[in-house]
Amino acid sequence: MTTDNSRQPVTLAELARMKQAGEKIACLTAYDASFAGQAQTAGVDVLLVGDSLGNVVQGRDSTLPVTLADMIYHGACVARGAGRALRVVDMPFMTYAGPDKALDNAARLMAEGGAHMVKLEGGAVVADVVQALTTRGIPVCGHLGLLPQSVHKLGGYRVQGRDADTAQTIVADALALERAGAGLLVLECVPAELAAQITDRLSIPVIGIGAGAACDGQVLVLYDMLGVTPGRRPRFVKDFLVGHDSVSAALQSYVQAVKSGAFPGPEHSY
Ligand code: KIV
Repeated sequence: MTTDNSRQPVTLAELARMKQAGEKIACLTAYDASFAGQAQTAGVDVLLVGDSLGNVVQGRDSTLPVTLADMIYHGACVARGAGRALRVVDMPFMTYAGPDKALDNAARLMAEGGAHMVKLEGGAVVADVVQALTTRGIPVCGHLGLLPQSVHKLGGYRVQGRDADTAQTIVADALALERAGAGLLVLECVPAELAAQITDRLSIPVIGIGAGAACDGQVLVLYDMLGVTPGRRPRFVKDFLVGHDSVSAALQSYVQAVKSGAFPGPEHSY
């Protein structure tokens, strides 16, 4: 007899099981209750309350000005609509500069912002923070590759890990995050081959955005995949509203494309 887990709340244990079973994880950003509800009804497993809200909701040119209060507000909005989806909330720029600060701020994202897990950017340099949070019961999602909070250091929004040295650093950072207790990893804008290698080496699930098809799951910014974001679209984005007559149909198409492995194609990868 098989058990239908499809309406059970999505947990980290379920995501780990999906990785083991080779079942792709569908993740999408959300910033409010209504879209969170539509996304989870369409079958999205993980809702990321991303600090990309600074760009797509607040109209800023980076995520740096986003505050903890912003994330708590949007996290709580998403929590009201998210249903069974696992909720990951971003820690904003410099709110996790050290373990004590990170503990205080992550606790607020969990208690007031409805987070099941917090996400922070960086590798070995934040391992002490990841360890402090996870040993106190706060699940952490790492974020490597293109780090939007470091855009001024990186000199722009560009693909990372193209040469052997930077690729090796990203692999070492991924292993350091896993060792420190991270339960999930987002890999943004790295060559597909590097992402495949990291996905294979880690036992925790790896969610890609512009990181090729071999990752355990995929995430896109909601406004990008609905064609709402103005300006030039990055290579890894697909507008799923094209060819569909409703938001819910576009969301279902996204989930189906991720689950079947049809998205991302080589044309969305580096
Ligand atoms: O803030 C965000 O939306 C993100 C995704 C791009 C992964 O971090």
